[in-house]
Amino acid sequence: MNQFSLSGKHVLITGASSGIGRQCAVSCSESGATVTLVARNTDRLKETESQLNGCRHFSVAQDLSELDAIEDVVKSTVKKNGKIDGFIHAAGIEGTEPITLLNAIKYKSYFDINVLAGLEFSRFLTKKKYCNTSYASLVFIASVMGTLGQPGKIAYSASKGALVNAVKSMALEFAGKNIRVNSISPGIVLTPMTENLFASLDADSKQAIINMHPLGIGTVTDVANACIFLLSDAAKWITGTNLIIDGGYSAK
Ligand SMILES: NC(=O)c1ccc[n+]([C@@H]2O[C@H](COP(=O)([O-])OP(=O)(O)OC[C@H]3O[C@@H](n4cnc5c(N)ncnc54)[C@H](OP(=O)(O)O)[C@@H]3O)[C@@H](O)[C@H]2O)c1
Repeated sequence: MNQFSLSGKHVLITGASSGIGRQCAVSCSESGATVTLVARNTDRLKETESQLNGCRHFSVAQDLSELDAIEDVVKSTVKKNGKIDGFIHAAGIEGTEPITLLNAIKYKSYFDINVLAGLEFSRFLTKKKYCNTSYASLVFIASVMGTLGQPGKIAYSASKGALVNAVKSMALEFAGKNIRVNSISPGIVLTPMTENLFASLDADSKQAIINMHPLGIGTVTDVANACIFLLSDAAKWITGTNLIIDGGYSAK
């Protein structure tokens, strides 16, 4: 039996309309999982669905800043495709703003999507009625910015740092239920989010960011492969970790 297979598992993925979340959906389906896709943009969700292997997948269009709607997303997902074995929280927002441009409303917008939406999903989908607790696994896409600093990244870093540490406490809280919880901290990966970031920079600044990664910048598949590992039974003794995937960015 292939320990890395996701065959027979049902995985719910937020941020599945783009970038890392989309590739996670494609790779999970290629590894045998049934996936439920969550994001706001219906057309882009459909585009992801069209790239999936197999046919039982479905999408839920939902703005995750509406935190009160999350239990219904979990409910409808389970009703449609059965209990959940895996969760990837890839929905997220990024920005570069010095503290003079930040305020409580802006901090909250980062935290709502990057942290609170993921924690609310965890609250509901770890319930017995929604979760298959023989080796269920939750994976949160954090960032190297969750453990390292950079000017202009206070709000983003704060949200990703919160996520990395919340994962550790969740791992301990859910271990008795056989639910594993881990985060992945990527360095720069080429996605629409990064394209937006690069579009705001001059050529030298862009090259400087690329040069900070000894193996070059990453691909969405580099992150999706790690998600598959953490969701699979091959990782059944791994919980409470933060897996850094950054082409050597943070090794210095
Ligand atoms: N790309 C990188 O270099 C990099 C590095 C480290 C960490 N990360 C993290 O990886 C995750 C994915 O990033 P990415 O680069 O793939 O970004 P992306 O291509 O911009 O995708 C972001 C996803 O989040 C969803 N999303 C954003 N706001 C939402 C909301 N209010 N409600 C529901 N869904 C929402 C978007 O869907 P809709 O617009 O359809 O709602 C989209 O599917 C993020 O958490 C990011 O912080 C990325």
